[in-house]
Amino acid sequence: MPAVNAGSKVVAIDGPAGSGKSTVARAVAARLRTDYLDTGAMYRAVAFMAMRSGVDPEDAEPVARLARAMTLEVADRVMVNGVDATIEIRSPEVTRAVSAVAANPEVRAELGRRMREWALERSGGVVEGRDIGTVVFPGAPLKVYLTASDEERAQRRSQEMLDMHYDEVAADIARRDHVDSTRAHAPLAVADDAVVVDTTTRNVDQVVELVLELAAKAGLG
Ligand code: DC
Repeated sequence: MPAVNAGSKVVAIDGPAGSGKSTVARAVAARLRTDYLDTGAMYRAVAFMAMRSGVDPEDAEPVARLARAMTLEVADRVMVNGVDATIEIRSPEVTRAVSAVAANPEVRAELGRRMREWALERSGGVVEGRDIGTVVFPGAPLKVYLTASDEERAQRRSQEMLDMHYDEVAADIARRDHVDSTRAHAPLAVADDAVVVDTTTRNVDQVVELVLELAAKAGLG
């Protein structure tokens, strides 16, 4: 039987924190009448579950075991083992712990498998993350890499994180950028065939329209 290419109708949207990925991916999915998957929420859910179960997020094997065993649903709400973790996965504690979880190769393998399963069940979708175009769906017909200046990204995030100061948010983003781009497994990188879009001076609607034009050209409209 020929291997089914789970990514044949996937729009892959990658980029660093605060580049506008989630907002853009959600809007593009709605316009294409397809589903949207926030893969960062999946890594956050594993970090959340580890902390809740008293497992050190740096402790690779127990965290991987937990990732393989857990039930996980990422849609409007994020449900982990039946617990609604939608709010908690955005906490500063989870945000601090998630880089270690995302650097764990066995967790990446397990979550990558679940991402492909998600796309197969829907025959496509809009998937947003760090390694979606490079590792998870290398055959995706459209790969977009969103960027924005460091200042702009920190501004955006500090508007979302009301309980954190700008300086704190900027330092946290810089730390995560560094860890995400220098880790050994599936680091944040631009796929050779990705379209790089700088969102610093573009508003959400402009970026969404641009991605929809690219999707139409890729035969996904
Ligand atoms: O996009 P976010 O901030 O919610 O992502 C949370 C963390 O998960 C971030 O530090 C990078 C990591 N991540 C990843 O390594 N690969 C993905 N496909 C998505 C997120």
